[in-house]
Amino acid sequence: MDYLFIDEGQVRIKIPQYEKVSSKAPVFYNPTMELNRDLSVAALSVHRQRSEKDIAICDAFGGSGIRGIRYSKEIKGVSRAVVNDLNPMAVEITHENIENNGLTNVNVCRKDANLLLRTCKGKFDVVDIDPFGTPAPYVESAASSLKAKGLICVTATDTSALCGTYKKPCIRKYGSKPLRNEYCHETGIRILAGFLCRTFSKYKKFLKFQFSHSTEHYMRLYALVGKGAENTDKSLQNLGYIAYCPKCLNRHVFKGLTPLIPVKCQECGELWNISGPLWTGKIQDSDFILSMINTVPDLNLNTKKNVLKLLKKCHEESDAPPTFYDLHVICKKLKTSAPPLDSTINLIKNEGYPVYKTHFNHNGIKTDAPLPLIEEIILKINKDSQ
Ligand SMILES: C[S@@+](CC[C@H](N)C(=O)[O-])C[C@H]1O[C@@H](n2cnc3c(N)ncnc32)[C@H](O)[C@@H]1O
Ligand SMILES: [Zn+2]
Repeated sequence: MDYLFIDEGQVRIKIPQYEKVSSKAPVFYNPTMELNRDLSVAALSVHRQRSEKDIAICDAFGGSGIRGIRYSKEIKGVSRAVVNDLNPMAVEITHENIENNGLTNVNVCRKDANLLLRTCKGKFDVVDIDPFGTPAPYVESAASSLKAKGLICVTATDTSALCGTYKKPCIRKYGSKPLRNEYCHETGIRILAGFLCRTFSKYKKFLKFQFSHSTEHYMRLYALVGKGAENTDKSLQNLGYIAYCPKCLNRHVFKGLTPLIPVKCQECGELWNISGPLWTGKIQDSDFILSMINTVPDLNLNTKKNVLKLLKKCHEESDAPPTFYDLHVICKKLKTSAPPLDSTINLIKNEGYPVYKTHFNHNGIKTDAPLPLIEEIILKINKDSQ
């Protein structure tokens, strides 16, 4: 068998040569996920800095071991990392990669991730769920195993379900109705976040989302675990629905599990399209992301520029309301050309409304300003520039 050597962060990893990135490769490795791993190293570094003691990490879907190996090499204060994978060849190469990187605090395991997490209750401060496709079948085991103050990190690559291209799989896996529209990636992340919260709540645990992003073909969430029935009940009040008008682009957040949602859009009378239940609360924590931004210069990351670019965008939108308007979609409705984004944002701000850009879409505008006002501003800019 031929092998490849991959240099990421501070490690060198050996993997069997593969023809294309696929779950059928002898050992899975996806180079486009380097940004995801770099961000993870930054997030876990901040989590360790905020913990009172060294942390134990479970990389439940290890592949070549690159994640767990990077965590233990690049983060100061990792007592132990467990790298797990069902694939025997992945386990074999992970052993080799650990040795070649001179690590003594990484253990390797070959179990079904659910079995491992259920049998290691309370042993890990961080659990990383990075499976093929949906993380849904593994979240409950992670919920049962993580202690209060632990960190859960979850990747989902089934974005076609979460974003509403395929509704039924989303309903089956997450018990939630997606909606395919201009902000469908945010809806997808909120469906995943809501599913995580509902699953953790069975164990009287709640989640505080620290950092969330939708990038290329995947979504990734980082959340701190809290414990207690009362706080869990309070946190569940953030579940709700988002109603969207496909005709006038109006949208409205309805909080609660059984809110009274009018059938029609209040602006134009069209029937609402509704997504949910989903998480309507915060999905970014500005302090956590700022700490990540401050930590990045001390890390050895190949994707540092892109890491900082994404973190700054997520930091900027951390206090913004759910959903965003896509300037181009509004302009299509108005049958006018799109004015510069920054001028539009400045004029909305001049009217006294906070406005935020968003990492979800470079034409996105997050604001509580009424849609008719935004439209008026767009038309005015276009008229003045004639
Ligand atoms: C997306 S890959 C992991 C990639 C890796 N975390 C990385 O960053 O390169 C998913 C891995 O999960 C493994 N796997 C699939 N089902 C599993 C299960 N039920 N329990 C444990 N591992 C599993 C696969 O063999 C594969 O290596
Ligand atoms: Zn409407």
